[in-house]
Amino acid sequence: MLNNGVSMPALGFGVFQSPPEETAAAVETALKVGYRHVDTAAAYGNERQVGEGIRRAGLDPAEVFLETKVWVSDYGYDQTLHAFEKATRKLGVDRLDLLILHQPAPDRFDRTIAAYRALEKLLADGRVRAIGVSNFRRPHLDELLAATTVVPAVNQIELHPYFSQPDVQRADAEHGILTQAWSPIGGITFYPGWGEERRSVLEDPAIGAIAAGHGRSPAQVMLRWQVQHGRSAIPKSTNPGRILENFSVFDFELTAEEMSRIDALDTGVRNGPDPDIAREVFEMVIPDA
Ligand SMILES: NC(=O)c1ccc[n+]([C@@H]2O[C@H](COP(=O)([O-])OP(=O)(O)OC[C@H]3O[C@@H](n4cnc5c(N)ncnc54)[C@H](OP(=O)(O)O)[C@@H]3O)[C@@H](O)[C@H]2O)c1
Repeated sequence: MLNNGVSMPALGFGVFQSPPEETAAAVETALKVGYRHVDTAAAYGNERQVGEGIRRAGLDPAEVFLETKVWVSDYGYDQTLHAFEKATRKLGVDRLDLLILHQPAPDRFDRTIAAYRALEKLLADGRVRAIGVSNFRRPHLDELLAATTVVPAVNQIELHPYFSQPDVQRADAEHGILTQAWSPIGGITFYPGWGEERRSVLEDPAIGAIAAGHGRSPAQVMLRWQVQHGRSAIPKSTNPGRILENFSVFDFELTAEEMSRIDALDTGVRNGPDPDIAREVFEMVIPDA
């Protein structure tokens, strides 16, 4: 249950880096497996294919909790209202369940606040059912809350056993914001393109031992850890077997000792980009169609 009473499935389906030509099939498979929440973003370039996947699965979009994100280049009051129009047109829906700001972008935080005020307007008009943020740390949350009215429903952050951001989780909890884990099985610690000095959390021996003890996979243990902590998690896969595997985490339980053993793996080292640093990609233009 989100802080405004809207309910959201604990486990959702992510599509970052899912090639557009594979996205519709992956979403269709996920919905047929039982997922009812999809997380995409304007910046992923596959919102259209997410909409296609929902239709292919024969579901009414109202049956799927649809989450997408406004990209930094669309920050601003009017620009963000327009970003909503672009997203809903591509997804083929009239309303979104959750719309979030993708980055805090502290180098232009006045526009971040203007963008969030546009989300508040869309919420008030019933065009979205909930609003939120992503990659916000405590100072970003404090500054946003001081300048706006609606408390974000979610804060989507990099969160897996090697980087669990306890201070951001505490800040979220203090404000009744649900923490949503991106890279919930540590994808960013092993998928290509994000730096060489990384240790794959999927190969962690402690997680491997817990998984063996339950006859489960390391990914299932990490997703179980996420939901058992009451967090939202949005694992991504384009592989039907792994899509099913990642959803099959509601029929076993980790002990308190196992949960603490996984909690103790936090290294405090971020694998993703630092949200405080502006990046060239922030200027990437999101096409109208
Ligand atoms: N807000 C943000 O800034 C932000 C940043 C990153 C991600 N996200 C969101 O969070 C979602 C999930 O994060 P993520 O995609 O970074 O990482 P992830 O879900 O932790 O991991 C995805 C990676 O793991 C592989 N995989 C999936 N299931 C597996 C399994 N059971 N066993 C072994 N490997 C498996 C996938 O490859 P295959 O496809 O080949 O299975 C892919 O390479 C994204 O898709 C996106 O929606 C948001």
